[in-house]
Amino acid sequence: MSRILFAAGAGALTFVALFAPSSELFSTQTTAFLPRQAPLTVAPQYGSMEQYRVAQQPVMYVQPEAVQPQSEGVSSAVAYGVMGFGAALAAAAFLMPAKERRVAMFATSSLIMDTSKSPKPWSKHKDELIKTASYIASPGKGILASDESTGTCALRLKDIGMEGTVEEQRVYRQMLYTTPGLNEHIAGAIMFEKTLYESSDDGVPFVKVLNDQGIIPGIKVDTGLKKIDGSPAETWTSGLDTLKERCAKYYEQGARFAKWRNVVYITDSTPTDAAILDCVTTLAQYAATCQAEGLVPIVEPEVSLDGDHDIETCKEVTRKVWKMQYEVLQQYGVMMEGMLFKPAMIVPGADAPKKEPAEKVAKYTLDVMKETVPPTMAGITFLSGGQSEEEATQHIQAMAEYMKDAPWNVSFSFARALQSSVLKTYGGKKENMPKAQELLRAICQVNGLAQMGKYTGEISDRGHPSTTGSLYEKGYQY
Ligand code: 13P
Repeated sequence: MSRILFAAGAGALTFVALFAPSSELFSTQTTAFLPRQAPLTVAPQYGSMEQYRVAQQPVMYVQPEAVQPQSEGVSSAVAYGVMGFGAALAAAAFLMPAKERRVAMFATSSLIMDTSKSPKPWSKHKDELIKTASYIASPGKGILASDESTGTCALRLKDIGMEGTVEEQRVYRQMLYTTPGLNEHIAGAIMFEKTLYESSDDGVPFVKVLNDQGIIPGIKVDTGLKKIDGSPAETWTSGLDTLKERCAKYYEQGARFAKWRNVVYITDSTPTDAAILDCVTTLAQYAATCQAEGLVPIVEPEVSLDGDHDIETCKEVTRKVWKMQYEVLQQYGVMMEGMLFKPAMIVPGADAPKKEPAEKVAKYTLDVMKETVPPTMAGITFLSGGQSEEEATQHIQAMAEYMKDAPWNVSFSFARALQSSVLKTYGGKKENMPKAQELLRAICQVNGLAQMGKYTGEISDRGHPSTTGSLYEKGYQY
């Protein structure tokens, strides 16, 4: 009997996949990318922060092509699933070989847990969280990660011959955020806390500069990595004790999503179970707090590129981390439709003797994702982790090609792989800004195209717009 029920469940899922009108949610839609889109309506100035926030909603969520919110899609999918269950019950029991029935059930049953007894941190902001997350996970769009800490940003500016002062950092961020056409392929920008409160030269808050283009402001909320006692090669992340109050303040300032990065390192003796447990638990607690305060959490359990391990080792460690991550997230009641996942791709370590082709990286990454990440997730926004700008784009493209029917929106949230060539072109000189901005737009564009599986043929033959090679740096910190 249980086998028949298993088979019927799998049959119902198949029915949903084949016939539900929300299937557009589960596939990549094409949007116009060339020529550049007309800018979105510019929001007028509003008197109070409250009026401003209310009035900005239609601007933030206006899309060139309508994208159905995940919540509606999910409920219609459930309805179709129920309808399909009965029909599938009889058919599946007779038609599906017993082995496949078990595999289908095994592949889906462990991902979505019973959360009826979990807390519901999202209850106050449910609709807004779903709207924000599904907006960021729009087809052809990704995230500009510009949340380097003041120290790291200073280093980046010193690399191009500047002093790295706080004012230079503000001017640099202004250049990024005022890039003409940035909103074509960018739906969200992550900022460091200080930047969230800064303004352009003419006094317009960066939050407004972004919102007016339909780019949602986000904020990095972890406060950095600390060594784990007794395992000095490993780290935990600080910032939880003050998180709730800070999230409320960031929301008030206009942030609508947040990011927290934990890192696990592969060596002969790591990651320890303690490091993984700490990583996933901290991220789940952070995510629950963010949802309670109206911020969509980006959950980032990074498996570091540091090391000489092969891709198989990376795959095993990653599977373990992602599996535990989703179990603990659901135990804490974090709503999948109102969060984003920001993992590293499954690749060999930076010092590994053998590189792997993009097709293999895509296959390993998405196969493990299918085993561990619930299909209800709003979106997956990969970090670049020290890959070259071109490699990072090729990997996004390879993933779009490998799993055209992936249940999640697979995209990018890159820092180094969007900014490195831009910094080089800028070189700290005002007169280079237009060129640097055009380059940023072009790099965002190739990644946006890759997200839709369109970085191919004539477009990729033109060559990647970036001008840098490997961006790897051991022990990189934000
Ligand atoms: P990279 O793309 O440079 O790895 O940055 C990831 C990140 O977490 C920035 O927010």
